[in-house]
Amino acid sequence: MRESRRERRTSLSEAAGSQAAPEPADRGVVDLHNHVIPGVDDGAQEEAETDAALDAMGAEGVSSLIATPHVELGLHSRGGLDDRLQSIDHGWATLVRRAEGSGVRVYRGAELRLDTATPDLSDARLRLAGGPFVLVEFPYFIVPPRSPRMLAWLVAQGWQPVLAHPERYASVDPDLDVAREWRNAGARLQVNGGSVLGRYGEAARRLAARLLARGWVDYLASDYHARGAPRIAEYRAALVDHGGREQADLLMRTNPQRLLRGEMPLAVPPLEMDEPDARAVRRPGG
Ligand SMILES: [Fe+2]
Repeated sequence: MRESRRERRTSLSEAAGSQAAPEPADRGVVDLHNHVIPGVDDGAQEEAETDAALDAMGAEGVSSLIATPHVELGLHSRGGLDDRLQSIDHGWATLVRRAEGSGVRVYRGAELRLDTATPDLSDARLRLAGGPFVLVEFPYFIVPPRSPRMLAWLVAQGWQPVLAHPERYASVDPDLDVAREWRNAGARLQVNGGSVLGRYGEAARRLAARLLARGWVDYLASDYHARGAPRIAEYRAALVDHGGREQADLLMRTNPQRLLRGEMPLAVPPLEMDEPDARAVRRPGG
């Protein structure tokens, strides 16, 4: 028999609480979006790259991570979802083994491509640490016409969508109307830390800054693909340099830790990272 929405929320919260609660002493960064499982997507390919990624993330302050390999939900209707998850099982077991003694605690998750309107997320391997939260993205970096409705549908099923890197969609309007609709639909927003540093270009950097200025970002994560440096310490420092120590702690520690416990994020105070356009007024000759 299909369990009710309320039952599902309760049981998932309990599952997340019993299996995935961080250690009380865990004061480090919890990174909830990265691609460090070896050989399952465009992230780490070899075990050596996974080892290096764990070392680099640990050195930059990460105490826990949720590994989120790409999964296309449309595979379900084509009968390939089980195969895909089984292929990730092997890599996940490898990550668990490699993480032992690394000082970084690992949880399983996925980055779900919303390429079907009514996905079935009942398999715990599709969710962040097996709890009610799901990390989702739209296909091809294009915002679909009914994107708020898709997110609202997930909420109505009892899942809690976290939209990955909203700042990377070129069609997000400067006034953030669509971002408001996503939030009103019940989604929470995860910005990539690299966007704050301009890693994905000026448009993404500016959108990330605008979202932070509204207080609409709930989580910052690395989206680390096990190449180069994760730059986690660097984007944290960028926030702190702009007076955002409290925001950095909420976005990178408190809120992801709450997610591991099945709890909604705390509100994040607005943070101005861009100089206002008034700069030209202040320095007319400069
Ligand atoms: Fe990703």
